[in-house]
Amino acid sequence: LATSEVDVSQIAEGQVVTVKWRGKPVFVWNRTAKQVEEAAAVDIGQLPDPLARNENLDPDAPATDVNRGAKGKENWLVVVGVCTHLGCVPTSQQGEFGGWLCPCHGSHYDTAGRIRKGPAPENLPVPPFAFEGDTKLTIG
Ligand code: FES
Repeated sequence: LATSEVDVSQIAEGQVVTVKWRGKPVFVWNRTAKQVEEAAAVDIGQLPDPLARNENLDPDAPATDVNRGAKGKENWLVVVGVCTHLGCVPTSQQGEFGGWLCPCHGSHYDTAGRIRKGPAPENLPVPPFAFEGDTKLTIG
């Protein structure tokens, strides 16, 4: 399927669900205010990968939290769940930065899915997606 639909009304605050899109896992995270705050407080000059890697934005958009989250619905983070090192699936809400920890070689991602520590070179990519109202998310 070229697109995947998710009913986000079933995803509680703080919960991450994994859906399939084009054969890959995609993480959909209903972040808490604290998790958004943590991501927004990071100086992007300190990030290993300063680019947003968000297919909904220009390729040179910076990796601010706003540019990583969903426009106008910043609690939502939608990222492809494939480690940018060698393609393992990272584990949600683990690691030193509260986002994901890749079990293969220890890459740590933050609550905006940005690489913070370890061998992965890039932030987890944000796929094309759109919200319809408050309940429906279409990926792809
Ligand atoms: Fe994730 Fe190597 S594949 S750290």
